Amino acid sequence: MDLNIEGRKALLLGASRGMGRACAIALAREGVSVTLVARGAQALEETASDIRANGGVVSCVQADVTTAEGREKALAACPEPDILLCNAGGKSPGDFRDWTREDWISAIDLMMLPPIEMMKATVDGMMDRGFGRIVNIVSRSVKIAQPELGLSNGARSGLVGFVAGLARQTVAHNVTINNLLPGIFATDAQREHIAGMLSPDGPDFDTIWRQRAEQNPAGRYGQPDEIAAYFTFLCGDRSGFITGQNLLIDGGGYPGTY
Ligand SMILES: NC(=O)c1ccc[n+]([C@@H]2O[C@H](COP(=O)([O-])OP(=O)(O)OC[C@H]3O[C@@H](n4cnc5c(N)ncnc54)[C@H](OP(=O)(O)O)[C@@H]3O)[C@@H](O)[C@H]2O)c1
Repeated sequence: MDLNIEGRKALLLGASRGMGRACAIALAREGVSVTLVARGAQALEETASDIRANGGVVSCVQADVTTAEGREKALAACPEPDILLCNAGGKSPGDFRDWTREDWISAIDLMMLPPIEMMKATVDGMMDRGFGRIVNIVSRSVKIAQPELGLSNGARSGLVGFVAGLARQTVAHNVTINNLLPGIFATDAQREHIAGMLSPDGPDFDTIWRQRAEQNPAGRYGQPDEIAAYFTFLCGDRSGFITGQNLLIDGGGYPGTY
């Protein structure tokens, strides 16, 4: 399928590793010039050189998207993106009784406000130019609350609630905003998540890793390029009638009919 996005410009936050990296590689393959943002220089450079080796056009920005300065740096490198991927990290599992106001503010500063600020900075330009594709990598936790991930359940729901309203205001100008809700994916974040679930009396890392795969109807973890394929389709020219959606990619893990 020709997505007809060759020559477009994309700004991808959290794109040096995991799902963000896969999304950047997939877009570059479609002829989109990609600007990658992450905090760590080494993974950024590795991803960029993989993209260049395949003929892609890529630049890197070392920045923390939870800060205003980091977001400004990202926007300075790609001031008029046609495509925006909002992605970063998550918060560790825990018990809500232990979380302070500061913990909640830091969760919102990581999972809710950066995408909202980036949308605020880019949607008007996209609407003026008549094309925009914004995709947020969120989590299944907004649809299937994860008991140990209260900060994620809460802060990410704030983001999808906001997107639900904004996405209906931009679509008439061919600017769509959608959220991808990954289930379990084999990435560093998944490994960190499991490490955070370990307890002295509980199962070890390998046991939890295996059990989580077994509990999924697909019997496995998702691979980052499976998210990237969906993401790339949403960025295509023909996807202008899909907006405000929360799209699960979870191997059938969500048990509901609708
Ligand atoms: N993997 C899963 O099973 C799963 C399931 C549901 C939801 N999620 C969520 O999906 C998102 C992506 O997950 P992933 O598994 O692809 O994660 P990952 O493999 O850990 O990659 C995260 C990427 O984001 C960058 N990043 C993190 N914090 C950042 C910050 N403050 N500023 C700029 N860049 C930042 C990382 O680079 P640096 O660290 O160098 O900045 C890296 O490039 C996360 O929010 C995660 O919580 C993951």
